[in-house]
Amino acid sequence: MSEIAQLKIGDKTYDLPVIEGTEHEKAIDISKLRDQSGYITLDIGYKNTGATKSAITFLDGEQGILKYRGYPIEQLAEKSSFIEVAYLLIYGELPTEQQLKDFQYQISRHTLVHEDMKKFFDGFPSKSHPMGQLSSLIGALAAFNPESLEPGLSPEIINLEIIKLIAKMSTIVSWIYKKSLGQKVNYPQNKYDYVTNFLYMTFSQVTEEYEIDPVVVSAMNKLLILHADHEQNCSASTVRIVGSSDANIYASISAGISALWGPLHGGANQAVIEMLEKIKADGGDTDKWIAKAKDKNDSFRLMGFGHRVYKNFDPRAKIIKKACDDILEKLGVNDEVLSIAKRLEEVALQDEYFVQRKLYPNVDFYSGIIYRALGFPTDMFTVLFALGRLPGWIAQWKEMKENKEPIGRPRQVYVGATNRDYTDINNR
Ligand code: CMC
Repeated sequence: MSEIAQLKIGDKTYDLPVIEGTEHEKAIDISKLRDQSGYITLDIGYKNTGATKSAITFLDGEQGILKYRGYPIEQLAEKSSFIEVAYLLIYGELPTEQQLKDFQYQISRHTLVHEDMKKFFDGFPSKSHPMGQLSSLIGALAAFNPESLEPGLSPEIINLEIIKLIAKMSTIVSWIYKKSLGQKVNYPQNKYDYVTNFLYMTFSQVTEEYEIDPVVVSAMNKLLILHADHEQNCSASTVRIVGSSDANIYASISAGISALWGPLHGGANQAVIEMLEKIKADGGDTDKWIAKAKDKNDSFRLMGFGHRVYKNFDPRAKIIKKACDDILEKLGVNDEVLSIAKRLEEVALQDEYFVQRKLYPNVDFYSGIIYRALGFPTDMFTVLFALGRLPGWIAQWKEMKENKEPIGRPRQVYVGATNRDYTDINNR
């Protein structure tokens, strides 16, 4: 018999069904509670509220487990490629050799971006933040793909929009970078795989032959895989809630990009490097900055530390820390900021404040150091997170549509003024 939870309010008892997931996590289904009792539940910040049932990503914050479609992140980061992981997230299974070939081929047919999109680039101030540009440009793609606005799209059209998004995202990201340097943009080359093509468009110069460094390609694949999905986080929830109103896929993903921009979410990778640079310029005294992070009268937080769900360790951080050491060694980079990061981590992990609150380094603590070693400027880091997260957002959007989820519309507890009579402006 399935488990039932009981809620007692006054002298009445309500039976609430208990739902169990495939990894045995349990939830109390309160979807009929208001109809039955007149009460709603309140959970500001959704710390304890499941918004959906999902079969994409599983994470266990206590044990530090992360799996995409059942496959452990450690195996995918070690053995897979970003584009294979994208296929897995979106379609639910690892592709066969032929499926992967077809997927890559279709993507390569759509990497070109409408030339008129370049006029948007001209309009942005050259130093405007890449995330603002990315969010606007992805939203603008709807204007160039008006079929995406039609209601009741066929699975074939939906799939085409998905392919276009993945294909054009890498071109747009590379163009944003080129614009920041005042350099001519590069066009995609179909002979390259997705990640190599992205690196080619980003780093190649008209003046010389681009040399592909397998170390860089492998590091980039790993970083993108680690960022590819993370279940119902701020940006994924945003994508699902915007998409639930039947807004088109470009608008939904653009909203996700805006959510990711914030320094408490994806923007943390930029904030970490800026923080480490500041500590370096200040003489490298990590104790002083740890004390600042603990001081409740100081708004400073140790960026790259803490996570809403991981309360033991972030498995992505473990992989990335190792990758960071390997890549810096292979590229022969000696970055002082890395030693400050390591010192900071060591001190924080033993400090009562951080231990008590279960604050550990998250994925963003080390990712910026790798991006920097690969040659990306700091304000591009969050855009790279978005490039990696795109398949996850798409998978979340697609699942929400396929499950025919209703429009997302939370309730509230109103705490404002009650009845008041309008007073004439002269009497206020
Ligand atoms: N430095 C210092 N204190 C912290 C930090 C930190 N980085 N993070 C949390 N705390 C403290 C916080 O002040 C609070 O203390 P108290 O209980 O005394 O009031 C306690 O720990 C719990 O914090 P919270 O803000 O209630 O936790 P949350 O689950 O709402 O926030 C977080 C999670 C990630 C927003 C937060 O830990 C944070 O701001 N971290 C820094 C930003 C960061 O690195 N974000 C990237 C997250 S991973 C990438 C992604 O998925 O987007």
